[in-house]
Amino acid sequence: MGKKLTEKVTWVGKVDWELKSFHGNEYSVHRGSSYNSYLVRGERNALIDTVWKPFDKEFVTRLKQEIDLNQIDYIVMNHSEIDHSGALPELLREIPDTPVYCTENGVKILKGHYHADWNFIPVKTGDRLDLGNCSLTFVEAPMLHWPDTMFSYLSGDNILFSNDAFGQHYATESLYNDTVNIAELYSEAMKYYANILTPFSPLVKKKIDEVLGMNLTVNMICPSHGVIWRDDPAQIIGRYLDWAGNYQEEQITVIYDTMWQSTRKMAEGILAGIRSVNPDLTVKLVNASVRDKNDIITEIFRSKGILVGSPTVNNGYLYSIGGLLEMSKGLKFKQKKAAAFGSYGWSGEAVTQISQQLQDAGFQIVNAGHKALWVPDGAELEACKQFGREFAGAFA
Ligand code: FEO
Repeated sequence: MGKKLTEKVTWVGKVDWELKSFHGNEYSVHRGSSYNSYLVRGERNALIDTVWKPFDKEFVTRLKQEIDLNQIDYIVMNHSEIDHSGALPELLREIPDTPVYCTENGVKILKGHYHADWNFIPVKTGDRLDLGNCSLTFVEAPMLHWPDTMFSYLSGDNILFSNDAFGQHYATESLYNDTVNIAELYSEAMKYYANILTPFSPLVKKKIDEVLGMNLTVNMICPSHGVIWRDDPAQIIGRYLDWAGNYQEEQITVIYDTMWQSTRKMAEGILAGIRSVNPDLTVKLVNASVRDKNDIITEIFRSKGILVGSPTVNNGYLYSIGGLLEMSKGLKFKQKKAAAFGSYGWSGEAVTQISQQLQDAGFQIVNAGHKALWVPDGAELEACKQFGREFAGAFA
């Protein structure tokens, strides 16, 4: 069942080609995923992480084909979320006394999930698990992305087991970054960062600086989702530093929802206005009700500015816009400019409300927004273009 990475390390995880959504339905998955678990064979043997609960029996059955379970001396849980700890109860039914190494927070979270008093060994940064001819050193990484998260570093093979960090929801049977389509891989890695790690960017930078300061040789980064970074593993560390640094590209994204096409027409006018100021800028138009929410978040992540539009409905704005505003607030984007727009028939509150929500989410509001009564005509579309020109001008 396993796939050998080195003489000592074997991948014993599960590739989930069918996965469509993650974190319930909060995260869309377009290219499957994997739950990577690793078996380290030294003079003593350690298993690092398990797999998601639906695959628990399959995992244990296949692990038995790889090793006599009684020869697993230690279990290391880098992170307690169910996609990595889900098979732990099934495994510990077979080898109940095996010590489980995790952070103090890991102990609390695993107890909170499984209500079992397993043989926990809490560890801190710098603690070392001696496997005889090699060792695992632990590095706490709280809030990357849960309070319990830690990394484990294997001496000798020089492998960093980073759990969610540097991961991607990307199914592959070929394991390594140099064996897959690089555009697909980076698209998924960025989506993962944008949607999961953005709020923790200051901690990401601090933790990477701390790990780099340890001057560890890193031959491979083995995350717990997606590919293993074997070819130039520093590349994904460099990308993470970019992404953690209030990342933005030369892109403006115009996000809208529409009922009878008036707000769409406004969006198109705004787009034309932006492009008339700077034809080299990437400008994307996104209907929030038909595009995937996590892909839209990734577009916001790429953007240096966004415009958000909705008609006024029932004294508010449309549902798809409300969801995105709430997601954006939680993700705590920094140093991005924004403005609101929308059509209306009578009360017209949506633009003011969206502006306020954008401000609350941490966007820099460029102006009071722009609203259009009923269906935009030629003069109004010209006003939308002017609004787009003014928005583009905010970046001059
Ligand atoms: Fe892949 Fe936070 O679990």
